[in-house]
Formats: sequence, C-alpha cells, structure tokens
Amino acid sequence: MCAPEPGPKRALMKIKDAAGRHIDYARISVTDRCNYRCLYCMPESGVESMPHSGVLRYEEIIWLAGVLVSMGIRHIRFTGGEPLVRKGMPEFLVSFRREFPDLEISLTTNASLLEEAAPSIALAGLSGLNISLDTLDAVKFSSITRRGDISSVLSGISAVLGCKIGRIKTNTVVMRGFNDDELPALLNFAWERGIIPRMIEFMPLSENLWGRDKFMPSREMLEKTSRLGDWEPVLSAPDPSHGPARYWRDVRTGRIFGVIEAVSNHFCSACNRLRITASGRMRACLFNKEEISLIGMIRERDREAVVSAVTSGINLKPGRWRDLNGGSGDMSVIGG
Ligand code: 5AD
Ligand code: SF4
Repeated sequence: MCAPEPGPKRALMKIKDAAGRHIDYARISVTDRCNYRCLYCMPESGVESMPHSGVLRYEEIIWLAGVLVSMGIRHIRFTGGEPLVRKGMPEFLVSFRREFPDLEISLTTNASLLEEAAPSIALAGLSGLNISLDTLDAVKFSSITRRGDISSVLSGISAVLGCKIGRIKTNTVVMRGFNDDELPALLNFAWERGIIPRMIEFMPLSENLWGRDKFMPSREMLEKTSRLGDWEPVLSAPDPSHGPARYWRDVRTGRIFGVIEAVSNHFCSACNRLRITASGRMRACLFNKEEISLIGMIRERDREAVVSAVTSGINLKPGRWRDLNGGSGDMSVIGG
C-alpha cells in the first residue's frame, strides 16, 4: 500500500549559522550498528557499539525533532549505521510521519532489510530514500560489504519501486580498482528503474580505511560515464533541500545523475545541515570533531537548553572544510 505525498510546508522560523547559511536539514542517526562492514566505512571488526541505554529512544527522537522543527528544520533524514537494523524502525517511521505530517522525511539505507520494511516505508510517505549500491556483482558485493548478499538488496529495491516515495536515489562510493569499471552499469540500472544514481568521491573520514590509490576524483568518473549521454549541468537540483550533489542531464533522454564531489570540490558554502548521532550528540560538520551532547537535556525535556545548545553548535560550523587529512571518525558513528 502506498501513502500520499506529504502535504504543503508551513512557513517556519529560519536558523542561520555564523557564515550566513540557512540550516534547515538535520540528519539523525538512529543507530551506530550495521549488518555490513563496507570497506570504506568500517573496519572488518566493526566499531565498538554504544550501550542501548546511551542511544536516544524513539520518543526522545520525536521530542528532539519537534524542537528542531520549531527552530526551522524542514527536512529530517534518518541514517545509521544501518537504520533498519534498529528494532521497530519501520513502525517508528510511520509514527514519526503522524507526528510531522508536513515535514520532509527521508531515509538512507543499505537496503538489505528494505523488503520487509517496504510497507511501512510506503505508509510513512517518505520524501526520499537513498540506497547504497556500490556494485551489481554478487561476488564484489560481498567483498565490498564483507558479508552482504546482493539478492536481499535487489529485492529491497524492487519492493519500494512503485510506492509513492518521493525520490529514490542510489549512492555509489567510487573506489579505484573496486567498482570504477561498473559506473555505466550502475547508472543504467538506476535509470531503468526511475532511480537517480549518484556517484560519491571516497572521503578520508577514517585514515586507516582511506587510500589515495583508491580515491577517484569526480573528473575521472565523468570521463567514464561521458559516453552514456550528451551531458549538460543541471542548474536547479532535483533535491529541494539542496543536497551536496552536482547533477548532470542528458539533453536527449532527460536522464540525470549526480556526483558528490566531497573531496575535489567542497560544497561547504551551500551546506545546510546539522547531524545528530545515535547517542544524541550534535555535530555541525562532518569534518569537525567538536560535538555537543544533547542527551541529558533531551531526557529532561529541557527545550530551552536544547535550543541554546543547537544554536551554539551551529555556530561551530566552519565556513569551509580545510582539514582534508584529519579524519574525523567512522561514518557509521557520525551518521552517513
Ligand atoms: N566516503 C564516501 N561516502 C561514504 N559513506 C560512508 N563512508 C563513506 C566514505 N568514506 C556513505 C555511503 C554510504 C552511506 C551510508 O555513507 O554513501 O552509502
Ligand atoms: Fe553499513 Fe552503510 Fe557503513 Fe556499509 S556504508 S558498513 S552499509 S553503515
């Protein structure tokens, strides 16, 4: 069963950071756990999981979201780890939608558990669904994810197609020598299903996972896909909350794809987001290690304290990401 598109948005307060950027997008990680160990994201042994007691409960996330919405957040994306490994997540999405009928709500998932979650996801009327898909080859898939089975991902994708989910996108982290040969196939796979494919530059978030030899700049990705169409830049992105991707459109077929140039072309000036980790820590920037813990204030339902902490957290957002070599922690913990 598919739910109707979310209704019109109300005029809301706007928050600006120190660099004058409007912050209207929050990414909330619901768990640091994941059933995969993607080469670019986690070490083989996984990351030490935080105890359940330190993780925001669903009702706490709803309360926090209410505060963020009152501060001008218009779009909330749930991330992980893998959000669907958290017990009750599909049902939570439905209740979250009920609480926030006008909000843009989206989810990032590895799709391994999507088939089962699809009816709830449809009911929740998500505005967007981002699916990680780095390869179409079963053997490569299990080696990139170190344990995944591509058939569950493909059935997950089939299950959500046809439901009225706003935008479905695939995210491919491109790694030289692993999946760069598959870019045309991955783009075609998405287009054939009405999905918007996006290719992502491998970010040096964790020094021991990243390697210059595995990094492929967007320029080379574009060379590899140039023959698939007659490409012109898309000036108004298909993503209303101005995701960081730069989009290209084939003038003949109208097909589009996005490239996230996280390394070669910083999009800091257009950054509109803040992040909340599963343990209720706010991070203003992926590349800034400073975090502010909100969990105590959330548990006390201290609205004023949260507003003031989020406001000062937003002012920690750097104007520009300069520290390429620093590494800032695993994506699974911060919330991809
Ligand atoms: N570089 C780029 N993207 C990454 N992700 C995780 N780690 C990295 C990295 N080092 C992104 C992938 C994945 C999502 C959960 O996070 O797009 O699909
Ligand atoms: Fe899990 Fe996503 Fe990280 Fe892969 S990229 S290990 S699916 S959180």
